[in-house]
Amino acid sequence: MKIVITGGAGFIGSNFIRLLARERPAWELVNLDLLTYAAAPQTLRELERLPRYRLVRADVADVAAVSAELSKGCDALVHFAAESHVDRSLAAPSAFVRTNVLGTQVLLEAALHNRVGRYVQVSTDEVYGSLGPTGFFSEESPIVPSSPYAASKASADLLVAAWFHSFGLPAVITRCSNNYGPYQHPEKLIPRLIVRALADRTLPVFGDGRNIRDWIHVEDHCLGLLCALEQGQPGRVYNFGGGEERENLQVAHEILAQLQKPTSLLSFVPDRLGHDRRYAVDASRARRELGWAPQRSFAEGLGQTVAWYQQRRDWWEGLFPDP
Ligand SMILES: NC(=O)c1ccc[n+]([C@@H]2O[C@H](COP(=O)([O-])OP(=O)(O)OC[C@H]3O[C@@H](n4cnc5c(N)ncnc54)[C@H](O)[C@@H]3O)[C@@H](O)[C@H]2O)c1
Repeated sequence: MKIVITGGAGFIGSNFIRLLARERPAWELVNLDLLTYAAAPQTLRELERLPRYRLVRADVADVAAVSAELSKGCDALVHFAAESHVDRSLAAPSAFVRTNVLGTQVLLEAALHNRVGRYVQVSTDEVYGSLGPTGFFSEESPIVPSSPYAASKASADLLVAAWFHSFGLPAVITRCSNNYGPYQHPEKLIPRLIVRALADRTLPVFGDGRNIRDWIHVEDHCLGLLCALEQGQPGRVYNFGGGEERENLQVAHEILAQLQKPTSLLSFVPDRLGHDRRYAVDASRARRELGWAPQRSFAEGLGQTVAWYQQRRDWWEGLFPDP
């Protein structure tokens, strides 16, 4: 089995490659990644030690490069590569459309042409927009993205659905809630709060800090992706979530408490434009049909993550100060 993982040098993709290296020892792993700012050099060095692993530095929107790789044969493709930071999408949306939308279309064309046996689109619950204080997103919820990032991911999902319906590409779409865990770039909320607290710097909290996210440990997400890859029904969407809703302010307090830092480090900053109030997913389809369930509570996973960032300064220090 040969599997191409796009964006495998990023946060979730690199955790997925480590999972496959452990759990699927016979698979050949190809990481197709452009190595943008989001791919930390230290992550790459660690991946390069894995047996049966090969890195191809390429842009998913580059037709020639993608065709060249897939024409060598590919049984399965898991598409992580994306511009992934909402704040960057508000400041400079073009790269999001190019990589997330055009890049997905290039991969779909190449996957169809080269008869890839299984295609997994790694998407996000942000495509569903914002929730009020109650309720959950199901796979049938309307697609009403708010940010340019979410809109680009929603557009990609619609293309994947079209390639399944029109051309029979055996594709599944997964939509996951907010991930946290090791190897996440410190521009993202949880690692940013951790590394700033470690440096005794202020912890910026958007608006009133009451925005709610459903947190899932990255390794639980990766287990879900493996289930979707191996057992998912083509054309189907699967939500994944940790069932662990927290206000951002609560998350900041939990990190400060674990590091025994004062709450005076908290600093409220002007809210993000169009900031979605609450995300929460109903992941019962994945539980029922794929036999998946998250293994780690937020309390346990956050503790391990804080400890990882304390121990792995070598991994993140080059990405700081203030990403
Ligand atoms: N982080 C989350 O909480 C979360 C939740 C749900 C879904 N997702 C989705 O999961 C995927 C991975 O997210 P992440 O947090 O690991 O992102 P990340 O930013 O950590 O990694 C993205 C990777 O994609 C690569 N990349 C970017 N542009 C590329 C291009 N044009 N061609 C090839 N490679 C390119 C980068 O070099 C990097 O290695 C994304 O599609 C994202 O939308 C993320």
